[in-house]
Amino acid sequence: MIQKGIESMPDLFVARVDDLKEGQRKIVESGKSTIGVLRAKGKVYAYHNECPHQGGPVCEGLMIHRVEEDIGPDKTYRGMRYTDDLHIVCPWHGWEFNIETGRCAGDGRHAMRKYKVIERNDEIYVVV
Ligand code: FES
Repeated sequence: MIQKGIESMPDLFVARVDDLKEGQRKIVESGKSTIGVLRAKGKVYAYHNECPHQGGPVCEGLMIHRVEEDIGPDKTYRGMRYTDDLHIVCPWHGWEFNIETGRCAGDGRHAMRKYKVIERNDEIYVVV
């Protein structure tokens, strides 16, 4: 049976698997907007390239591990250290988002819009 009015969009080709290496990203067009696709911690993630704060190109920001302040048991400051959490920093105002979850590090009520990623025949696609 054919359902009228319901058409699924074809998956959006991003790159060959070998062409998106660890730490690399690609911005692909999807209609009037763009999607950032990046490989981090061995996995590929895709997010709408529009920051939930004020619409900045969040997927084009710096990727950096979360910085944590080290406070000793005596409440003295012992410096800063990087954690395993990898963040992307929006270039407009610096909001940080966890790359694995898309959640805003400073306020978990906000998150980047995530897309499903599939690999097929050594190629990466985003399901739009
Ligand atoms: S638009 Fe991204 S932090 Fe403001």
